Amino acid sequence: MEGYPPAMNLHRNVQKFLDLPLRMKFVLSFLVVILFGGLVSLFFGTRLEHRTIFSQAQAKVRHDLASAWMVYDEKLNDIRDIVLLNARRDSIQAALLAGDRETLLRTLARVRRDFNLDILTITDRFGKVVQRTNLPDIYGDDQSADPLVSRALRKETVTATEIICRPELLKESPDFAERAYLQFIPTPMAAPRPEDHEENGMMLKGAAPILDEQGKVLGVLYGGILLNQNYEIVDRVKEIVFKGEKYKGKEIGTVTIFQNDLRISTNVTDAEGNRAIGTRVSQEVHEAVLRRGVPWVGRAFVVNHWYITAYEPIKNIAGEIIGMLYVGMLEKPYIDLRNSVMLTFTGIAALCTVILLIILFFITSSITNPLRRMVLATNRIAQGDLNHQVRIGFRDEIGQLSHSFNQMTENLKLANENLIQWGKTLEKRVEERTKELREMQDYLLQSEKLRSLGKMAAGVAHEINNPLTSILINTHLMLEKLEKRHEFYENLSLIADETSRCTQIVKGLLEFARQNPPQKTHTNINELIERTTQLLENQASFQNVRIVKELDPDLPAIKLDRNKIQQVFWNLLLNACEAMPKGGQLTISDSLSADKKSIEVHFADSGVGIPKENVNKLFDPFFTTKSSGTGLGLAVSYGIIQQHDGKIEVKSEVGRGTVFTLSFPVEDRRPDSTQKGGAYE
Ligand SMILES: Nc1ncnc2c1ncn2[C@@H]1O[C@H](COP(=O)(O)OP(=O)(O)OP(=O)(O)O)[C@@H](O)[C@H]1O
Ligand SMILES: [Mg+2]
Repeated sequence: MEGYPPAMNLHRNVQKFLDLPLRMKFVLSFLVVILFGGLVSLFFGTRLEHRTIFSQAQAKVRHDLASAWMVYDEKLNDIRDIVLLNARRDSIQAALLAGDRETLLRTLARVRRDFNLDILTITDRFGKVVQRTNLPDIYGDDQSADPLVSRALRKETVTATEIICRPELLKESPDFAERAYLQFIPTPMAAPRPEDHEENGMMLKGAAPILDEQGKVLGVLYGGILLNQNYEIVDRVKEIVFKGEKYKGKEIGTVTIFQNDLRISTNVTDAEGNRAIGTRVSQEVHEAVLRRGVPWVGRAFVVNHWYITAYEPIKNIAGEIIGMLYVGMLEKPYIDLRNSVMLTFTGIAALCTVILLIILFFITSSITNPLRRMVLATNRIAQGDLNHQVRIGFRDEIGQLSHSFNQMTENLKLANENLIQWGKTLEKRVEERTKELREMQDYLLQSEKLRSLGKMAAGVAHEINNPLTSILINTHLMLEKLEKRHEFYENLSLIADETSRCTQIVKGLLEFARQNPPQKTHTNINELIERTTQLLENQASFQNVRIVKELDPDLPAIKLDRNKIQQVFWNLLLNACEAMPKGGQLTISDSLSADKKSIEVHFADSGVGIPKENVNKLFDPFFTTKSSGTGLGLAVSYGIIQQHDGKIEVKSEVGRGTVFTLSFPVEDRRPDSTQKGGAYE
């Protein structure tokens, strides 16, 4: 294969495919179609599925982030309510006016504890701290520059998320500074930062003015919750939004509060199961949310798992971005869902393919089986079995084809039978023709023999006739003169007899040789037979021969040389009687031939019969088996019959008898020739 160029390889493969059996081609073609269709729909189906699942997941995570914001804002509102309500308390106003730090500390410390605040501090109308609830000894510092306090001094009640620098934290509590201090944990995708730790804190803070009855500002009450390593909000969001759902032992939902890009409060856990604070957000999210201030939704690798996440910026009261709120859902359940959908889809597709292939198998079988049967039938017919028929299944095209095929076979069979029949007929005809030809050849041969013999005999007879006549005359003259007692009388008588016999032979020869044209006249053949038999019946030597005549009285008259034909009849009658020396039956019959074209005359005797080897010689001149015969009787008869365009045939069986059959052609019937009893011309 490697030796061929690619185009040729393709051509060879296409050729190979085209040479495959029909069923294989069907199955392969359908398989290609099914696989192509299946793969395309699988590809687009899973993509669509993937998109649907993930866009739904993203919509959910956006929604979850909104819920997280609600919890976050609720917390801010709580702080606002606490500072606002306490700022309006008369006892606090009175204690502030009186400068009673003791009462302020006692009252506010309880409020801070009761409402779980980290700080709760009160200032005077200039923003100078009057009393702190954590470290009461630190006071008198100026907080009027604080954006919330300054707003509260202007009679506003405000809340916000604020960055609190380390010195401020230290003023409130060294614990806070410690909670805020976080060494960065190296995070691969995070944006590079020059510092390696964070020491400031991020706080939910609220501030409310303390007003006297005239509405004059007496001071400010502010409080807050430090978010660093405070997990209340994130866990509450998780509880409300995700309801503690787990997937394979892992929390599905995670929530994080970022200070800048640093995780300060989260329920994302690291490999050991600890909260992953100190790690930082990826550069991509950093860029979008912290720099550009836009929400970010998408897949993100958080700590050590893939999540579907949503981030939004957290802004301080001045609108500066100081951190982010994050909600993320473990991607794994969605991936698994997608995979199982894909698996189910693929399974169904595979099952459908198998079912389709089985159906296809049956469909192709229903098409190819009849075709195969037809191929088998063709083979059998090619081997010569024309009786084979194809089974017709349905009335579809193949059924019609089978029907036509059977009809074709039937026709073929018929044509074949005709051919065989025709062959037989031809053979028979050839046989007949050969027989006719042989007969014609025999006839010609016989005629030729007779002609040459005739010529010779005529010459010899002519030369011998005159001397014989003078011998006979002189012998008779001498006999007349001699007395019977004379010693030569007997010898001379013998000479006279033998010479007479010779004259007889010569006469016969001349008869034979003389080819006189026949003198034909219309003759009734029955009458001619009657006359000849009468002559025979007078012969005393044949008295013990019974003569039976079966003559057809309706025979037409035909043109014959009566004398010659009578001679033929006579020869045949004599031969028959001579063949029955001890007597027997001679049957003479005549009739019209089956085709009515000739009259047949039969001379049947019950004599000795003729041995087979003699049958061919019968018509040869001088052939005789008799001591006193000339062997010219039949030869002469043959010549005469020939002159009448007739035929002479012989059938014989040794010991049973012989039948000589003469046949004379009947001339075209004319009214005058059909008269019964036929008048002689
Ligand atoms: N009806 C017959 N039955 C048996 N043999 C026959 C019959 N007719 C002819 N033959 C045979 O055919 C031979 C030839 O007959 P053909 O009439 O030519 O001569 P022939 O009868 O022998 O002599 P001839 O006619 O001069 O007396 C006969 O010698 C005889 O052997
Ligand atoms: Mg004879």
